[in-house]
Amino acid sequence: MKKRYPRTLSSGANNSVIAITETEAGKLFLEDTRSDIGSEAEKMKFANQVNGLVVKFIRLDLMNNDTELLVMERLYPMDYRAYEFEKRELIFDVFEDELVQLHKAGFVHRDIRRPSDMPGERFDNIFLTEKGIRLIDVGISALKSQVGERLFERFIQQEMEELEIFRKFFLSR
Ligand SMILES: Nc1ncnc2c1ncn2[C@@H]1O[C@H](COP(=O)(O)OP(=O)(O)O)[C@@H](O)[C@H]1O
Ligand SMILES: [Mg+2]
Repeated sequence: MKKRYPRTLSSGANNSVIAITETEAGKLFLEDTRSDIGSEAEKMKFANQVNGLVVKFIRLDLMNNDTELLVMERLYPMDYRAYEFEKRELIFDVFEDELVQLHKAGFVHRDIRRPSDMPGERFDNIFLTEKGIRLIDVGISALKSQVGERLFERFIQQEMEELEIFRKFFLSR
C-alpha cells in the first residue's frame, strides 16, 4: 500500500482527500500536480454558481511546502439502499435535471463513470447524501468556453450515455 496521509478519507484515481474538520475536506495536490489545482478550483466555482450539484468550493490552502490543498465542503456518502426504490427514482430525476442544467450553462463533468480500464469503484465521484445526489471531482471536467462547441457537444453526449448506465446501477442496487 502506498503512503497514507493522516486523516485520509479516501484516495481516488489521482489524489488523496483528507478530513479537515467535520464540515471541510481537503484534496491534496503534490508538487507535480500543483498546476491542476487552480483549474480544478475554477471549474468547481463555475459549477457552484449554477446549482448545488457539485461539491462546494471553500478555499485554497497550503498544507506544507510541497503540498497544496483544495478545501471543499465535506460530504458524507450513504449506501443507495438507504432509500426505497421510489424515492431513488425521484432522487435520480433531480440529479438528471441538475446535470442538464450544468450542461446548458456550459459545464460538463466528464467523470461520472470511471472508464473500465481504470482501477477503483465505477461511480465513486457520485455521492448519495441526505440531500440527494452530489458530484465530486471536477478534475477532468470541461467548460464550453475552454474546449469549444464541437468537443463540448461530444462530451455531453458521452455524459448522457454514462448517466443512463448510472441510472440502471442506482435503481437496481
Ligand atoms: N468533499 C468530499 N467529502 C468527502 N469525501 C470526498 C470529498 N471529495 C472527495 N472525497 C473522497 O476522496 C476520493 C478522491 O477524491 P477525488 O476528487 O475523486 O480525486 P481523484 O481525482 O483522485 O479521483 C473520492 O473518491 C471520495 O471518496
Ligand atoms: Mg475521483
